[in-house]
Amino acid sequence: MKIAMIGTGYVGLVTGTCFAETGNDVICVDVNEKKINELRNGNIPIYEPGLADMVKNNHARGNLAFTTDIGEALKKANVCFIAVGTPMGEDGSADLRYVLAAARDIGRNMVHDMYVVDKSTVPVGTGERVRSAIAEELKKRNSELKFDIISNPEFLKEGNACADFMTPDRVIIGSENPASIEVMKELYEPFIRSREVFIIMDVKSAELTKYAANAMLATKISFINEVANIAERVGADVNKVRHGIGSDRRIGYSFINPGCGYGGSCFPKDVQALIKTSSEYGYEAELLQSVEKVNANQKKVLGRKVVNIFGDDLRGKVFAVWGLAFKPGTDDMREAPSISLIRELVSRGAEVKVYDPKAAGMAREFYLKDIAVTYTDNKYDALDGADALVLVTEWKEFQSPDFMEIKNRLKGKYIFDGRNQYKVKTLEKFGLSYVQMGVR
Ligand code: NAD
Ligand code: UDX
Repeated sequence: MKIAMIGTGYVGLVTGTCFAETGNDVICVDVNEKKINELRNGNIPIYEPGLADMVKNNHARGNLAFTTDIGEALKKANVCFIAVGTPMGEDGSADLRYVLAAARDIGRNMVHDMYVVDKSTVPVGTGERVRSAIAEELKKRNSELKFDIISNPEFLKEGNACADFMTPDRVIIGSENPASIEVMKELYEPFIRSREVFIIMDVKSAELTKYAANAMLATKISFINEVANIAERVGADVNKVRHGIGSDRRIGYSFINPGCGYGGSCFPKDVQALIKTSSEYGYEAELLQSVEKVNANQKKVLGRKVVNIFGDDLRGKVFAVWGLAFKPGTDDMREAPSISLIRELVSRGAEVKVYDPKAAGMAREFYLKDIAVTYTDNKYDALDGADALVLVTEWKEFQSPDFMEIKNRLKGKYIFDGRNQYKVKTLEKFGLSYVQMGVR
């Protein structure tokens, strides 16, 4: 099939590349000229395991191309995906300006009938707005061209994006048009292990499914974080409680890891957007509001633990921070708990030394560019002369470090762990004091 992918970010690039990998001709479009030029030169703008090789191979084979010219892409394609960003607007709703701009671009530039597939995460009713935007542009051109809107939300996780895309738990198709459903079936066929994976519904239900899935996962996280906060007050251990509840198959172990709050480009904005959509329809989503509130508070817990031990005034104190990315396996720092933690430490006068295997560039360039932080090239260098280590992201290389090295390099003895990676007993052996989440 011939595919145009509008928006070459995390989702567009991964989706486009995986479709190219299964033999389709894909042209990825983006308004960001620099990004497109980089991609043409074989430089991949994001870190995602397995992606770089696939992009390079398919680009070299000629079935994955990059352009800023949507007209060129639509000339060749009969299926056009919209995978542009839907960031949080000022009032918490999803900002649809990029989606609607892409829709208008499609209407202005399409030269034959087209299947338009919305892959961006969009509020219920957006499918209709995309349809109107395209139709309006076609009308201006007195064009009789036909198109259909399909909703196909994406569920990949950053850090595992290609694998998630290639072996999906489910593919959601929002469409009531048999021809569109057939096209989607053909496209996804190589990734579908069994019939149940391909789930067909109406457009609105597909749009809501994406928000409901993310809201459910965010709810699980806020739930366990709340239990962690209760556990440390009553003298229980959330790690044991997690084990105890996760063993019930109805609950399961996934997404009940206590931590320093969820971040990323999806959960925070999608929970907010669903709250907003609900209120637009006259319903107050009280549970989701609490999920949000618990998460906002949770991002402050690790900093509060530091202050509890070192006091309000952190002048003269040095902290090593391990991890900047909002989760391991990515250089993405959107809404990462590390941002508010480091800002808090610095605002209280502390010196902060940071190590992250992938995200230091992002921090330097965007998220922490206005504050003085020292970046080190390996995890142990960050510890030199520090009063404490604060672990924020559970990268693999932090999971079983050389504790003797930590002990020798640290000036102080504290390890604050926002991801509960270690055992108290192990640390005690090295004379280190362990402060974790949800354990008094
Ligand atoms: P992103 O910010 O990484 O990429 C979006 C890209 O679209 C950018 O490169 C931008 O320049 C480009 N763009 C904007 N307007 C354009 C236009 N008119 N024409 C062409 N290109 C345009 O965003 P992302 O993380 O890929 O997310 C895209 C959508 O997918 C969002 O709705 C998001 O919620 C959803 N989603 C994201 C993830 C994830 O893990 N990142 C997972 C599932 C769903
Ligand atoms: C999420 C969804 O998982 C994915 O299906 C959707 O398509 C996009 O949004 P992503 O944001 O990439 O993916 O990461 P995810 O692995 O879900 O983690 C999100 C945040 O939750 C991270 O900050 C992570 O640290 C946190 N988290 C996750 C926890 O705090 N505890 C957990 O048990 C799981």
